Formats: sequence, C-alpha cells, structure tokens
Amino acid sequence: MNDTVARLLNEQINKEFYSAYLYLDMAIYYDALDLDGYANYYTIQAQEERDHALLFMKYLQNNGLKVTLDAIGKPDKTYETVLDPLLAAAEHERYVTELINNIYHEAHQAKDYRTMKFLDWFVDEQMEEEDNADSMISRYKLFGQDAKGLYLLDQEYAGRVYTAPSLVL
Ligand code: FEO
Repeated sequence: MNDTVARLLNEQINKEFYSAYLYLDMAIYYDALDLDGYANYYTIQAQEERDHALLFMKYLQNNGLKVTLDAIGKPDKTYETVLDPLLAAAEHERYVTELINNIYHEAHQAKDYRTMKFLDWFVDEQMEEEDNADSMISRYKLFGQDAKGLYLLDQEYAGRVYTAPSLVL
C-alpha cells in the first residue's frame, strides 16, 4: 500500500477514537442537565465512532500493515446551551467528511481501488451523520425551545438503540 494512504488510514483510527471521546463528553454535558435522551443519543454515537476506529484498524491488519495507536486528545469544547453540542457535532462531522475525502483522494492518486472501495462505506456514512446532525439542530430550533417540546425531543432520543455497523471486515 502507498505510504501516505497507509499513514492516513492509521491516523484515522485516532480521529475516530477522538470522535468517540468528543461525543462522550457531549453525553456527560447532557447527563448533567438531566437530558437523559440526548445523553443516550451521544453515548450511542460514541459507540459508533469506536466501531469506526476498529474498522480502520481491521482494514490495515487485513492488509498486513502495522497499526500504531496514538494518544487520544482531550475534548476541550465548552457548552453553554443545549444547542451548543448539536452545533459542535455538525461541525465535527463536516471535518470528518473532509478527512475521509482526503484519504479517498490519496487512494485514488495511488490507484488503490481496494481502499477506495473500503472507504465507500464511510462516504455514505458521513452523508448520514451530517444529515442526522443537521436534523438535530433544526428539530431543536423548531420544537426544543419550550420545556414541553424539549421534553418530547429528549424522550425520542432516549429511544435510540445501538446497532452494529453494516460493514463487516
Ligand atoms: Fe466516524 Fe461520525 O464519523
């Protein structure tokens, strides 16, 4: 495998674990407000990010490449309002999409069609994650600004359940 592609795939393991940490930190913020549904939503989001990290790890291993784990950064965002984590999540997912696109670009340059095929799942996943993040913002703005509306939204997010990723390596 091309060295740059291999390095970026290895770095993405760390980025996905960082995403998990970031979402856990959001879950902690909501839990402190007793918004247990939002806390549940982001706890499950963190589990999905951990899954993403393990998929990048497994892909490198399946290709006989060395995996190196790096330190995970401290989530350093501070939230003042219920809306703030939602905005931060949408911004973060757009950043992750850029990272995935960048690996895809390097794989394409290297004619690494196998890695492009692997990344296709993440390209689709990022569309879904951006869409979900945007929808949480717009639904909060529409319904979440009064106590009853926020209560109902929180109840709905309490119903989110973890599902394993559809990609199996
Ligand atoms: Fe692993 Fe939220 O992207």
